[in-house]
Amino acid sequence: MTETVVEVIDVTKSYAGGAGVRALDGVSVGFATGTFCAVMGPSGSGKSTLLHCAAGLDRPDSGRVLLAGQEISRLREPKLTEARRRRVGFVFQSYNLMDSLSVWHNVLLPQRLAGVRPDRDWAREVMRRVGLAGRENDRPGQLSGGQRQRVALARALAGRPEVIFADEPTGALDISAGREVLALLRDAVDGFGDLGSRSGERSGTAVIMVTHDPAAAAWADRVVFLADGRIVTELADPTAEKVAAQMTAVSAR
Ligand SMILES: Nc1ncnc2c1ncn2[C@@H]1O[C@H](COP(=O)(O)OP(=O)(O)OP(=O)(O)O)[C@@H](O)[C@H]1O
Ligand SMILES: [Mg+2]
Repeated sequence: MTETVVEVIDVTKSYAGGAGVRALDGVSVGFATGTFCAVMGPSGSGKSTLLHCAAGLDRPDSGRVLLAGQEISRLREPKLTEARRRRVGFVFQSYNLMDSLSVWHNVLLPQRLAGVRPDRDWAREVMRRVGLAGRENDRPGQLSGGQRQRVALARALAGRPEVIFADEPTGALDISAGREVLALLRDAVDGFGDLGSRSGERSGTAVIMVTHDPAAAAWADRVVFLADGRIVTELADPTAEKVAAQMTAVSAR
């Protein structure tokens, strides 16, 4: 299976003000369906900008972005939002949960906003898989950081996205909570083992994850390295050691 779920083609993006920083400088990269890719690079190298452009949260100045074959870089609101809600899940470093809503309502919120009837059975299943069955009525404020991030992951998975974008999802977590979140992202990519056998069930989602941590990147199938708004190298079947060595090389450029 080598289909591409997200294709970024020669994307540039600059921000006004200051020296007119070119955050992305002609980036082309494809992300395969059902695979886990980490994005690394020094601070300010354009990782978040790449994620935002690839996810349709931000618009490139030039170049194209295809999401499941649809050119989202040309879409205007509300079609862009619709494409995002149908195909994409998000996990952020700071969880981005609504503190006034219960865990359960947080998980269902994207589907409600999209105007689709939430699939409650699947949402319950997802809550079980992230280890939060029974916490549905809690408020996010009653949960630990690791639990909150697992709620964010359940929220992302509840919409059965083709791709989950994660920007430093373990950045605010300790090692053990971070490892749980990474294992769940890995499981989501691997289709949670048994889901592939259920008829009509798509196997895993793709995950595109920005991280600073070589140990986190080692959970991925592939790592791409950014420097100064360009992709400078990549690594298949990463280990923490290989990633750390590559990061040192990239930072020394
Ligand atoms: N909203 C913005 N306005 C102006 N400049 C921005 C904005 N967002 C990003 N930039 C600039 O674009 C460049 C790339 O930023 P980006 O946030 O993509 O980097 P990053 O690799 O995610 O960094 P970090 O590891 O610190 O999160 C940086 O020079 C940054 O200062
Ligand atoms: Mg960033």
